[in-house]
Amino acid sequence: MRRLKFACSLMALVISLGSLGSASNASAQSKDSLYKRLGGYDALAKVTDKFIVRLASDPKLGRFFVGASDNSKGRIRQLVLDQLCAATGGPCVYIGRDMKTAHKGLGITEDDWTISVNHLVAVLTEFKVPKKEQGELAAALTDLKKDIVEKP
Ligand code: HEM
Repeated sequence: MRRLKFACSLMALVISLGSLGSASNASAQSKDSLYKRLGGYDALAKVTDKFIVRLASDPKLGRFFVGASDNSKGRIRQLVLDQLCAATGGPCVYIGRDMKTAHKGLGITEDDWTISVNHLVAVLTEFKVPKKEQGELAAALTDLKKDIVEKP
């Protein structure tokens, strides 16, 4: 009998926790991290893959990646992904070099930056990321610009 009572109270607790979860769903959605709203890790990985391929094959930007082995490009890809994941509120930890150190001496110009951002926007649009989220991601990256762009 005591066991039955215990089982019943356990079930009641589970049910009430369940309804608590769904009641707070609506407000949780509006507070979701950018990472979650972008679709999480797999979605960010797809965006990063397309972004890197576009940068490396762009007629003006390809020069930055000439001579980089597939493995080196894969390393950059993973670090960019980790950084995007961490910067948008995801569970990743960025362990790469800081942006100033990683890009120092490459001579990236304002024009290179604009072309890169346009590639990113094109990929996000291709993946049907809403304008609001696109804007939030662009804002997060704009903070890095001063450390990446070296020339006017
Ligand atoms: C959207 C802004 C950008 C972000 C978030 C970003 C992020 C990164 C990250 C995380 C790395 C790897 C750091 C490491 O090795 O520890 C990296 C490396 C690199 N990035 Fe960027 N980057 C951006 C813009 C650019 C642009 C505009 C270019 C040139 C077109 C560029 C070219 C490179 C190159 C060539 C490397 C390899 C440097 C090396 O290993 O010596 N990046 N970037």
